[in-house]
Amino acid sequence: MRMIDLIAKKRDGLPLEKEEIDFIIKGFTCGEIPDYQMSSLLMAIYFNKMNEEETINLTMSMRDSGDILDLSSIKGIKVDKHSTGGVGDKTTLVLMPMVAALNIPCAKMSGRGLGHTGGTIDKMESIPGFTTSLSLDEFTKQVNEIGLAITGQTGNLAPADKKIYALRDASATVENISLIASSIMSKKLASGADAICLDVKVGSGAFMKTMEDATKLAKLMVKIGNSLNKKTIAVISEMDEPLGMAVGNSLEIIEVIEALKGRGPKDLMELVMCLGTQMCKCAGLNKSDNEIKRMLEESIANGSALNKFREFLNAQDGNVDVINDYSILPTAKSKYEVKSVKEGCIKHIKADVIGHASMILGGGREKKEDSIDFGVGVVLNKKRGDYCKKGELLATVYVNDEKNKEQALSEVLSAFTIVNHEVLKESMIKKIIE
Ligand code: URA
Repeated sequence: MRMIDLIAKKRDGLPLEKEEIDFIIKGFTCGEIPDYQMSSLLMAIYFNKMNEEETINLTMSMRDSGDILDLSSIKGIKVDKHSTGGVGDKTTLVLMPMVAALNIPCAKMSGRGLGHTGGTIDKMESIPGFTTSLSLDEFTKQVNEIGLAITGQTGNLAPADKKIYALRDASATVENISLIASSIMSKKLASGADAICLDVKVGSGAFMKTMEDATKLAKLMVKIGNSLNKKTIAVISEMDEPLGMAVGNSLEIIEVIEALKGRGPKDLMELVMCLGTQMCKCAGLNKSDNEIKRMLEESIANGSALNKFREFLNAQDGNVDVINDYSILPTAKSKYEVKSVKEGCIKHIKADVIGHASMILGGGREKKEDSIDFGVGVVLNKKRGDYCKKGELLATVYVNDEKNKEQALSEVLSAFTIVNHEVLKESMIKKIIE
């Protein structure tokens, strides 16, 4: 087999066979296939697409390119949750303690963020002492003991995806549904869970800008997971404005703890309840959606979810006093207010623009090697559908380094679209695909 012939085959619109895909992935991972040939193939895939069978074969091949974790020593059905990424998305940290409080084991491997805000791991690291690098043994032991562990990636999961993703990023071939689906699912399948619950975001702050594309991606990932014998469900949720009120690492941790105390913002809690219900169903909880929702609500009302969060912090060496004393978290030196320049109703808050403002203040990474300033970010004082007067507070911006302050403040103001008619607050949940 020669790579040049396979590039030509895809260029001419023909599907690749399983053995051909395996040849490409093995050859590229071990360095025998050079970057220039792989990027050429990726561009051919970008234009000519892959069919379902090719996408499933690509996913399996990337999954098998590295370690496949064995979580069988954890008792019960392990459900993983994955979000395609959004601004202010702290869902995992509210959801996992709630689900674990219902005695469903939650074993989650999370990533660091690139762009916008930090990832789940970065958010957790804003808690003093918290460790995010558990060995596989520590990880499984903790899930067996307290029902919940979140760690950075252990082992060498889907190295082919890591190499291909870097090339896609540099060759304008990220935005292809088969490449996105196989990239996400190869990592999820390698990380050893029995079932997968996906949160596919749609809107201006998401990879998928339209419902049509989000639906295609969600259906494809569900198909891949189910055809490889992992029960997979996808929720399509809206990412047209930031999720919740807080964007930035410490600020989001405060919002998480508030949510676990029963004071979470409406949109965040709607999403958490929906994903939680789907996760419990994936884990085999044999109850109606309404009953599961009621049990999840009860985990907040009776404090068991907050207790689970406390146990989780304690197990991973985080300072548990943070639960009652937010001043333990890294904070910004200065706060600036962004006020409305007109009266009206908020039609839209561009999530990507708020995310960018937080990133240039240091809350996210532009490049992989950048460090994160945990204390900075943006807290919204208004959400879509809210009414505001001229001069009323729209958002508060938390700043340490004044260098990009003016740009961040003007970006935050520009993210708001205010109109002179009423705007309805819509549901976060657009579709559930099983
Ligand atoms: N996230 C991934 O892991 N891969 C993609 O291709 C896109 C988003």
